[in-house]
Amino acid sequence: MLEFLSEKYTSLRNDAQLSNLIQNIAKSCQKISNLLDKGDLNNVLGKSENINIQGEVQAKLDIIANNIIINENNFIGSLAGLVSEEMDCFYKIPDNYKTGDYLLLFDPLDGSSNIDVNISVGTIFSILKVHRKIKNSKELISNDFLQPGINQIAAGYAIYGPQTSFVISLGNGVHSFILDKEEKRLVLTNESMKMPKDTNEFSINSSNSRYWDKFIYNYVQDCLRGSDGPLSKNYNMRWTGSMVADVHRIITRGGIFLYPWDSRNPNIPGKLRLMYEANPMSFIVEQAGGIASDGNKRILEILPNELHQRASVILGSSNEVNRLLDCYLNTY
Ligand code: AHG
Ligand code: MN
Ligand code: MN
Repeated sequence: MLEFLSEKYTSLRNDAQLSNLIQNIAKSCQKISNLLDKGDLNNVLGKSENINIQGEVQAKLDIIANNIIINENNFIGSLAGLVSEEMDCFYKIPDNYKTGDYLLLFDPLDGSSNIDVNISVGTIFSILKVHRKIKNSKELISNDFLQPGINQIAAGYAIYGPQTSFVISLGNGVHSFILDKEEKRLVLTNESMKMPKDTNEFSINSSNSRYWDKFIYNYVQDCLRGSDGPLSKNYNMRWTGSMVADVHRIITRGGIFLYPWDSRNPNIPGKLRLMYEANPMSFIVEQAGGIASDGNKRILEILPNELHQRASVILGSSNEVNRLLDCYLNTY
């Protein structure tokens, strides 16, 4: 993998910290994938007794995957700190390890409610740079992480499905690799993923429909009316419960994914987390030719106030997202 990326990005050739970091993130995902393969045989399924900062009961694998990513990356001298969905506060690099220039923000296991039922899950990551000189990780403050998504140096995800794929962008296209488990290496399968501009597939958890904003409700109603309604085409619907799997499908064959604000929790913008779910996935979606918006603005331009901030997410094929924003958002 690194040979391909180093050839494409001069910046990477001159930056040992960044290339080591990417290599080690990929290695962590490989470990997680191997662990998932055996499922119950490894005694890793089921819930733990802990509740995370999001108020969600952690699956055993949420904790294990989190520890794998920390332990594979904290000693390599590339990082100044890490933020994870599964940790309340940010993680500082221990004193005995060298502090690097980068920050890693991640969702160790996305879609963890799907683990026990053998449906695809994933790992999402976002890499930022510390924008000031610090000598030691001890000097790090949460403000160092609170950068908009456009600042991401790289972002991507691993999807643990029928195959394990590793998808990454460093800002010049989206590159996709498949893990060859026999050869223990990531093999390039798509040098530049581009998603279709048009689609007739939507992805939303409709069980929340009574809580949606009117414009989302009306758009989905029109999708359901298909060729009999104003959209004049029939739509298909998919919702896996793993953002990684839904977004991977959308990047591969087009679609629109929505996890909008809803009135169940009126004071938070949405369910998904900005820094390690919405931002990295929006970076990938934009690099693949799609659009990612929170309904008001480009997700990548949101200025974060807190590490575990949430966002409303509407992303996917450009013509479909634009249709929703132009024809529905301002009409109702
Ligand atoms: P996580 O498992 O990391 O908490 O993320 C789950 C997220 C996302 O992957 C998915 O799109 C969404 O939550 C599903 O939510 P619902 O169960 O409300 O449909
Ligand atoms: Mn997630
Ligand atoms: Mn998660």
